[in-house]
Order: sequence, then C-alpha cells, then structure tokens
Amino acid sequence: MKKEVMLVTGAGQISMAIARRIGFGKKIILGDKKKENAETIAKIMNDAGFDVVPMEMDLSSRESILALIAEGQKYGEIRMLVNGAGVSPSQAPIEAILKVDLYGTAVLLEEVGKVIAEGGTGVTISSQSGWRMPALTAEQDEQLATTPTEELLSLPMLQPENIRDTLHAYQMAKRCNEKRVMAESVKWGERGARLNDIAPGIIVTPLAIDEFNGPRGDFYKNMFARCPAGRPGTADEVANVAELLMGPAGAFITGSTILIDGGATASYYYGPLKPEQ
Ligand SMILES: NC(=O)c1ccc[n+]([C@@H]2O[C@H](COP(=O)([O-])OP(=O)(O)OC[C@H]3O[C@@H](n4cnc5c(N)ncnc54)[C@H](O)[C@@H]3O)[C@@H](O)[C@H]2O)c1
Repeated sequence: MKKEVMLVTGAGQISMAIARRIGFGKKIILGDKKKENAETIAKIMNDAGFDVVPMEMDLSSRESILALIAEGQKYGEIRMLVNGAGVSPSQAPIEAILKVDLYGTAVLLEEVGKVIAEGGTGVTISSQSGWRMPALTAEQDEQLATTPTEELLSLPMLQPENIRDTLHAYQMAKRCNEKRVMAESVKWGERGARLNDIAPGIIVTPLAIDEFNGPRGDFYKNMFARCPAGRPGTADEVANVAELLMGPAGAFITGSTILIDGGATASYYYGPLKPEQ
C-alpha cells in the first residue's frame, strides 16, 4: 500500500521527538551514519505504533542522500523531511563539521527539493551557535545561500586559514543552514512545498552531553544556568516548533529560522551572558 513518506536523517533525540509528534500514519525512512542508532530508534518507534524503516546513510555523501530518497520513493511520495543529523564541535574535526553540517545539509535540501510532493514540508536543525558570530558581509551571506553545492566547500571563507577552530566551523555551518533554507525555500515554493529551519539552544541529547563533557563544558553549563529560562531545553520542545512549522498552522511560514534557546542568545547580546570586552 502506498503511504505518504517522511524522510528523517539522524536517529537522534531531536529527530525522534519530531517524528513521534508528526510522523503518525507515514512511512518513515530513518537514516543514520551509525546503523545501530537508526535501528534502536526504529524499534522504539515501531513498538509504539509508528512505521519506521532504519537505514545506514551518510549526510556528507550525495550518493547516500540519493539512496535515502530512492528508498522513500519505493513507498510513496516524499511528503516530509526532517534533517536532524549532525556533528557538534566536540565530536568532530573542522573538515568533518563542514562536510556533514554545511555541505551535507545543503545537498539534502537541494535533492529533496527536486522531489518533494506538493503541500510537502521540511525542517532542518541549525543552532543558536549560528547567531553568535558577528554578521558576515552581504556578499558572504549570498555565497552561503546560493553557491552551487559542489563549490561550497571551496569558498575562501571556509578555507583552513579562515576557520579558527571547530566551534567556528560549526557556527559557519549553522549560519549556512539558515541562508540555504532561505534560498532553497524559493525552489520548494515552486513545487507548492515549504522549508524552514529551527535553531535550538542547549537541548539535552547525546550530542549536548558530549559538549557538557568536552572542552567547553563549563561554558555550556553556565549558559543554560544563566539564560532567562534557567535550564536546558528538551527535544520535545523542539518538536513543538516543528509541529507548528510543518503543520497547517504554519502554512504562511517558509524560508524562516525559529530560534528556541530559552533566551540564551538574547542574554548573550543584552544580558548577563554577554561576553566581557
Ligand atoms: N542538542 C543540542 O543542544 C543542539 C543544539 C543546537 C543544535 N543541535 C543540532 O541538532 C541536530 C541533531 O542533534 P541532536 O542533539 O538530536 O543529537 P544526537 O546526538 O541525539 O543525534 C545526532 C545523530 O546524527 C547522526 N549523525 C552524525 N553524523 C552523521 C552523518 N554524517 N550522516 C548521518 N547521520 C549522522 C549521529 O550518529 C546521531 O545519531 C544536529 O544538527 C545538532 O547540531 C543540537
């Protein structure tokens, strides 16, 4: 039987929370670089009444992204995309962060944008990190938004001499996600589909726990303790935003990034989290 298909990348907590919120009745194709992660989440969800097919996929590979799409098309039209795959500054070197978070996301949005069904919706997950860098030039923003995917990693601003460390690479990747969503949403719109981005603050997941235990652990713990909400967020709260963006109540929202960070960014600019000069 044909079903509407939801493609999900990254078998992590944020992906699962979104898939559980809005993936009912859909055939969910769940791709992760670690097949065991995909299988674990698929089992939890299938035991709870969802219909999930786990598969091994690598967001940094166009071939692998095309295989994910092809798997989905076996079951029906691609109706939803959730991109929750990614690596954080404490998990991977600069090259891997740029290849997965920046290039891979751009390729995924491009390729799914070629096949998304009319009325379809997508979200990708960037980060508050992308809001913490000083503004780029208008020309750099446009390059991140519109440079052909295979040329993205050759941009001068992404060369090793211009990337300070893994955190800077992550910030550039996440800034690129926001710009890419704006540019791609125009193309998705030509197919009658919408594409948006969610920029979370600290959300307790294995990725965030690696950050708490990494070289910037104290910085992150201070950030959630002193932000207006006074705590880290949960993946289910990110799913609240995804539900809005991907459902009928979000019909007028596309090409947009929604920040959900307990007020940490506001405090970073205008409150107690402001870095000392
Ligand atoms: N947790 C946070 O505090 C937080 C904050 C801001 C943004 N984010 C972003 O949210 C997204 C999801 O993170 P999460 O917190 O749910 O993490 P998570 O650790 O729960 O899940 C991430 C998953 O992505 C998979 N993955 C890594 N590289 C991959 C690749 N090349 N191809 C396919 N899968 C790959 C991992 O194996 C893992 O299963 C990431 O893009 C992350 O940058 C998370």
